[in-house]
Amino acid sequence: MAEPDSGGTISQRIVDTMPWLDGLADKIQPVVQRAVVRGGRPAKNILDGLWMGAPLHPVLTDVPVGSWTATLVFDGVDLVSGARFARDTADGTLALGIAGGVAAATAGVSDWRYLSGGSRRMGMAHGLLNVAGLALNTASLAYRIAGRRRAGQLLFLTGYSLNGMGAHLGGELSYWYGLRVNRNVFESPGPEEFVPVMAEDELPDGGTHRVEVGDVGVLLARTSDGGVTAIAARCNHFSGPLERGEREGDTVVCPWHQSRFDLYSGEPLEGPAVFPQARYETRVRDGNVEIRAVAGNAQEKVR
Ligand code: FES
Repeated sequence: MAEPDSGGTISQRIVDTMPWLDGLADKIQPVVQRAVVRGGRPAKNILDGLWMGAPLHPVLTDVPVGSWTATLVFDGVDLVSGARFARDTADGTLALGIAGGVAAATAGVSDWRYLSGGSRRMGMAHGLLNVAGLALNTASLAYRIAGRRRAGQLLFLTGYSLNGMGAHLGGELSYWYGLRVNRNVFESPGPEEFVPVMAEDELPDGGTHRVEVGDVGVLLARTSDGGVTAIAARCNHFSGPLERGEREGDTVVCPWHQSRFDLYSGEPLEGPAVFPQARYETRVRDGNVEIRAVAGNAQEKVR
């Protein structure tokens, strides 16, 4: 078990006082990993968000956040006015939020299966708070259906508060740990003009070769049509080294979590990566491979 780190944000320092989260994660994470593998590649790609080109979990979390905020408002209107429409709307949005919460939790657990160390611990705390909130909100709906509205509203208020805390920890996972962000963004865009990076005859057929161009790692590949392509060498999912990945046809598979990228376009063909790799234009001059940045890479757009 990793020794808790006492640095970091206030939330991290609180979470780090709970090393039992690591023990729980040790038990749950292998079960999640096996379940996702058993679901097969299509299920995995759906949960990762590959089909829509963005991580799925943050999109789904908008459903319970929005729906339950509406529940809060309409519960307030009900308390003040006793209006029937307020009660019905509160119950409807509560039910919608529960359905969205279950879907968000499924995608979130799938994202969590890759984590380790402090980010896994933070993800465990995030998940437990949200599951507790979801359970209380589900109980709230049951109480309302049974006619115990005031007790149901109190349960909901408690659940909503827990979900708020959980959502904050989810933000920490992205903003502090960089979970599901495009890691290519943190590199420089690469050279604006063509620069030679290696002798063409040293580039193996059917293989890949990594070169450093300034602070950018670039993966060169000889493709099946005899051409040379270049994409970012660091996987945009968690910065895995693509030069150590398996080459399969004109694709490369990341050695860390098996995202597959098209070597021509940099597009992800299999998750968990959902963003395209940065791409570079190539040409051969005087026996040397030359590259330059192309327009449209993420790191160029953020500068
Ligand atoms: S680092 Fe996770 S798939 Fe590449």
